[in-house]
Amino acid sequence: MSTLFTGISELRTVTDRGTIKDAAIVVDDGVIAWVGPANEAPEVDSSGRRVDVEDLGGRAVLPGWVDSHTHMIFDGDRGAEFEARISGGSYEAGGIAVTMEATRNAGRERLELLLRQRLAAAAAGGTTTVETKTGYGLDVASELLAASIASQYVEDVTFLGAHLVPPGADAEEYVELVCGEMLDAVAPHVDWIDVFCERGAFDEQQSRRVLEAGLARGLGVRVHGNQLGDGPGVQMAVDLGAASVDHVNYVDDKDIAALAGSETVATVLPACDLSTREPLAPARKLLDSGVTVAIASNLNPGTSYTSSMNYCVTTAVLQQHLSLDEAIEAATLGGAKALRRNAVDGGKDAKGRPAKGQILAGAAADFHVLNTHQAIDLAYRPGMPLTWRTYKAGERIH
Ligand code: NIG
Repeated sequence: MSTLFTGISELRTVTDRGTIKDAAIVVDDGVIAWVGPANEAPEVDSSGRRVDVEDLGGRAVLPGWVDSHTHMIFDGDRGAEFEARISGGSYEAGGIAVTMEATRNAGRERLELLLRQRLAAAAAGGTTTVETKTGYGLDVASELLAASIASQYVEDVTFLGAHLVPPGADAEEYVELVCGEMLDAVAPHVDWIDVFCERGAFDEQQSRRVLEAGLARGLGVRVHGNQLGDGPGVQMAVDLGAASVDHVNYVDDKDIAALAGSETVATVLPACDLSTREPLAPARKLLDSGVTVAIASNLNPGTSYTSSMNYCVTTAVLQQHLSLDEAIEAATLGGAKALRRNAVDGGKDAKGRPAKGQILAGAAADFHVLNTHQAIDLAYRPGMPLTWRTYKAGERIH
């Protein structure tokens, strides 16, 4: 059955068609079949059947957010660590071990419940595509549990056994475990491999070993890089053909040039930068230098306990000096590129799946309806509850 969505005051397509005023979308079997001005909308579908009509009441519509960096499989919180930080402390990766303990003790049922709640909260904020990582288990059984739960609910799952060397473990032996037994266990459940390449976590040599082991198993590569200081993360990500290098707070001109000449997306995480009081990633400079930028939430209990992409987009506009169109593109198509889910051929991604992040015929009917007639309210009315409805594959998920 086809559905015609009308009553769209402005449609931010994130395609070369830009914004269409008084627009309509036809959805057929979870995929966008037609997009254009409402007065040109078809009344029958390709088989000649009358389409159902759903009136969105004069609201603005944009693609669903594509949140390409989250850590949703965890238990416990670190409010006390955060409070100490805002009273003058600084962020240290060691807090990951606190979450590791809580996560190891949680068990399947509770981790699954928490994940479902987090996905529902993300959907309530307009997010339709989520990537999530393991990385709070840090032993074979707990990483496998995290990966197997995540793969039941999330399309893009990332193995982040190399998040931290667990307390008491020898770093080299742990890297060996991550590249061997742990990777063997999780590989059937994951699509990507990632490493926290940072002082206090994994150095370049260790990071390369982990990522190369993942590549050899057919996984795509992502990197946590240049978050807390200068480092080799960006160059390594580009060298290895990573889909994305995430954080990028401390990048120099050489890093930016390497990114600009590559297929690697720079994913900025504004909510994390504010929470850790790190300098905001230089999203404006990256865009001006020709780098593809994505915006993601980085939901996790240590550095960014929010899945609100509206908040991230607002921050990108008000504090990182992106235009609204640039910020929306980074949080939709940018995220899709960071997950290699963007359209490359007639609305389909490189694997022939309906693409994400654009309102385009052939792409997934994933969209975000705002409770206002204009998308500029995302920055003009910051912090207001602007998400009205969220549709994924044409179905309401919020
Ligand atoms: O992306 N940087 C590494 N990982 C997370 C933080 C993890 C934590 O502190 O629990 C991040 O910021």
